[in-house]
Amino acid sequence: MINKVNERVKSISVPGIRIFANQVAAFEDGINLTIGEPDFSTPERVKQAGIDAITNNLTGYSHNAGLLELRQSVANFFEDTYGFSYDPEHEIVITIGASEGIDSVLRTILTEGDEVIIPAPVYSAYEPIVHLSGATVTYLDTSETDFFPDPQKLSQLITDQTKAVILNYPSNPTGVTLSKERMDELVNVLKKHDIFVISDEIYSENTFSGTHHSFATYPELGDKLFLLHGLSKSHAMTGWRIGYVLGPEQLMEHVLKVHLHNAICASLPSQFAAIEALENCRETPKQMNSAYVERRDYVYERLKNMGLDAIKPTGAFYIFPSIQKTNLSSLEFAEQLLEKEHVAVVPGSAFTEFGEGYIRISYANSMKNLKEGLDRMERFLNAIMA
Ligand SMILES: Cc1ncc(COP(=O)(O)O)c(C=O)c1O
Repeated sequence: MINKVNERVKSISVPGIRIFANQVAAFEDGINLTIGEPDFSTPERVKQAGIDAITNNLTGYSHNAGLLELRQSVANFFEDTYGFSYDPEHEIVITIGASEGIDSVLRTILTEGDEVIIPAPVYSAYEPIVHLSGATVTYLDTSETDFFPDPQKLSQLITDQTKAVILNYPSNPTGVTLSKERMDELVNVLKKHDIFVISDEIYSENTFSGTHHSFATYPELGDKLFLLHGLSKSHAMTGWRIGYVLGPEQLMEHVLKVHLHNAICASLPSQFAAIEALENCRETPKQMNSAYVERRDYVYERLKNMGLDAIKPTGAFYIFPSIQKTNLSSLEFAEQLLEKEHVAVVPGSAFTEFGEGYIRISYANSMKNLKEGLDRMERFLNAIMA
């Protein structure tokens, strides 16, 4: 029966991010520097809100778009933090993590033959969903521009087939964030075209220098913007699976249909926990950020001393050093580091061909593990460069 399986599904590969994490688990002394989630626990009062919901039998379905109370909390959060507002009744849908939001939005807008532009290197989960819809991805290479998308290059890539641009800042895997000036330049291009803008700002609360700027603050993009967000990273809630999509009413009406036919609604106890996180735990990301900044500085200095160039990240919890001077491909580097030193990193090629020549290290890990992992990486480098 295998020949009956959708060819598009067959062509999707297992994400490179996972492969090394699975392999390092086989080593008793393995150090996993691939982790894409906070190494902190969900705040106690958020956990308790989830437990209370279960105890009180709040375990059924909710409104398909999510509890109105939660949508209101989402709206309050963005209004208070970034000063833009969305109508909780018609412009917000609670999803099963940002992942399901990505899927629902892309399936709402894409059809056969459409093109989607994505600056790369980039998180690997967008492309497979685009492909499943019969659309194609055009990558905007940022590797020559310090991982910032060049507005002129973006403009040149837009064709009559372009349906959407996906932006992800703070960026996974590079850790770069966009200044207001850079965003202005991109918006100047985007506003001229009838194309959707999908902004995945899931790492917004993990911004280390200055404050995060959201594409949702630009009225020029109002009728074409989908904002993707969620609590996985900001509140150490990856397993609770709560995300949200915000967009204009005329579009969200259709996103809701795709979401509800797929998922009915997000988990109800998780939705109650999410209300607690958004209303009463606004300081949580800041507490995590102070640890991330200390680790970032440590990892950056260590890499520099090893002779590996990297852009100092200003957001998320990843660093993306160049390994070009080793003359190994990023896959060879990751494989040999794993085999010789039992340290797992993600090869840059897992984030498209434009990530080749780099590796992604996550510093959502203890200082002890980071130190040990980097000691071993240094030994590995000394051995291969000798
Ligand atoms: C850029 C980006 N978007 C979305 C997600 C998925 O988030 P969620 O756990 O909310 O589905 C991730 C997870 O690593 C991510 O890095």
